[in-house]
Amino acid sequence: MVNVGFEIVDGIARVTLQRPEKLNAVDLPTKLEITDRIRSYRDNDDVRVVVIQSEGDAFCAGGDIEEVRERDFALQPFTDTWEDLFEAMMHLGKPTIARVDGYALGGGFDLMLHTDIPVAATDAQLGQPEVGLGIVNHFSPPMLMSRIGLTKTVDMMLTGETISGEEAAEIGLVARAVPESALDAEVDRVAERLVGMSPRVMRKLKDGLYATAEMSPRAARSYLETIALDAARNEPDYREGVLAQLERREPEWP
Ligand code: COA
Repeated sequence: MVNVGFEIVDGIARVTLQRPEKLNAVDLPTKLEITDRIRSYRDNDDVRVVVIQSEGDAFCAGGDIEEVRERDFALQPFTDTWEDLFEAMMHLGKPTIARVDGYALGGGFDLMLHTDIPVAATDAQLGQPEVGLGIVNHFSPPMLMSRIGLTKTVDMMLTGETISGEEAAEIGLVARAVPESALDAEVDRVAERLVGMSPRVMRKLKDGLYATAEMSPRAARSYLETIALDAARNEPDYREGVLAQLERREPEWP
């Protein structure tokens, strides 16, 4: 049995973790199912944006640690399958949003970090407590380092302490934080905005932003310029986007 639901409505694919009684801890069958589904979204034109969300009061308390004992403490099956999921998300070519309330810990924290636009409740609790389980986590550090810098990364990784959604937004760890009561509306608003964008432009921008994240500003500009000019010459979005603006109408992406 897997503890996740999927639905696609009006261009928004929702992946809903459904194990609230275990704070949405993710077991292996569930993780494999999510990965397969995310891969299938890449070439599914009905999907324009993916929202990862959860039932109950927690986003995700990480991998299922009961399974760790059942599998005699082998670590690699767990890290390999997280790796596959994160790779699928990064190569999706479509934007992803995390709707984060309550706990986002361990693998749940990494899952959030691998979405493009994490939106958190101000009172969410985010962190990487795996240090306390005797685990050297290798997913969080590179993501944290580039977003919040060395000092805060070392603090979070070594202490395993959580920070609030509000602080996470202040230091750039999540994109936005809103009161819990406004979380659904904010996630929906961002998702609908992204659905209205050209899928081709979304794909090029997402791929281009991550490909250039570690380049020098000059190299990044040049890389993105090549993509921009090629797209403007060979694809319809630039013409349609500008004409729609001039004609005061919504664009219709061919
Ligand atoms: N894997 C499996 N089960 C988990 C879990 C996880 N990562 N996190 C929570 N649960 C389960 C608990 O075992 C408990 O199940 P039970 O009611 O059958 O005993 C249930 O979820 C509720 O958790 P509980 O610990 O009772 O809630 P709490 O409010 O007292 O504490 C946490 C919440 C998040 C602080 C605590 O559950 C915790 O530390 N979880 C582990 C987080 C972690 O280390 N994640 C990284 C995993 S690699």
